[in-house]
This record gives sequence, structure tokens and C-alpha cells, in this order.
Amino acid sequence: MTGDNHIPALIAAAQKARTHAYAPYSGFTVGAALLGAGGAIYSGANVENAAYPQGQCAEASALGQMVSDGEHRLSAVLVIAGGPLLITPCGGCRQRLFEFGSAGTPVHLCAEHGVVQTISLGELLPLGFGPSTLGR
Ligand code: THU
Repeated sequence: MTGDNHIPALIAAAQKARTHAYAPYSGFTVGAALLGAGGAIYSGANVENAAYPQGQCAEASALGQMVSDGEHRLSAVLVIAGGPLLITPCGGCRQRLFEFGSAGTPVHLCAEHGVVQTISLGELLPLGFGPSTLGR
């Protein structure tokens, strides 16, 4: 799927996942949705832990779902959280996403009401270190 046609479906998937977020420590619930190159949508929520550093971001949860389905190619990303401010993936998740996407992969950044900004993965992670650096 190309263009922005997939955005409503990505928002719906991310919003649904966000309702299942486990965020008792931060109270900050996040949902992420990924469009695989095969056209399927994968989603995930943040999963916190009493041992705080063991918490997992929504993007990582969604990537786990995607890879578990056998998809390794990422065509688009959408992240959503609550409140009026747009959410941006943390540094670690930019790297995680880059493993399966490319510099041109669109990342739709949302506030609670919808997409606020679309930016490329390459803009979020300039000069990203990825599989191609290792000749893969
Ligand atoms: N979080 C995400 O799930 N994704 C992001 O892109 C940024 C932060 C989560 C981690 C933690 O559970 C909560 O938001 C507060 O940092």
C-alpha cells in the first residue's frame, strides 16, 4: 500500500493497542502500529515493569508482533499517545525501527486527536547504523 491511505487503519490499530497499555508507573499509555510491506498491520502497547528499566515501548511490542508473523519489512509507522503534544519514538526505538525500515520510511507522529506530523525515519535517525552497514 502506498500513499497515506493506510493512516486511518494505522490510527485505529494503534488506538486499540493503546487501550491495552500496561503503564501503571508512568501513567503514560502509548500505542504503535506498523504497516508491513506485505500490507498487514501490526500493533503494540507499552509494557512497563516494577523493575523500571525492564519496561518496553509500544514500538518494540509492535515490532515483536510483526516479526512473529514473519514480516521483516516495514513500510510505515504510526505512534499515538494521550494529550495535545505529539509523541516521538525514543532513541532506542528509532534504532529498532531502522532495522526493518529505511531512511525513507514514513513515521506518523500523533497527538490524541490524530496525526500531527509525518517525518521520515532517516530524519528521526540521521546516518542510522543498520543492516546495510554490516553488508546485510
Ligand atoms: N514510550 C513508548 O512506548 N514509546 C515511545 O516512543 C516513548 C515512550 C513509553 C515508555 C514508558 O512506558 C512511557 O512511554 C513513559 O516513558
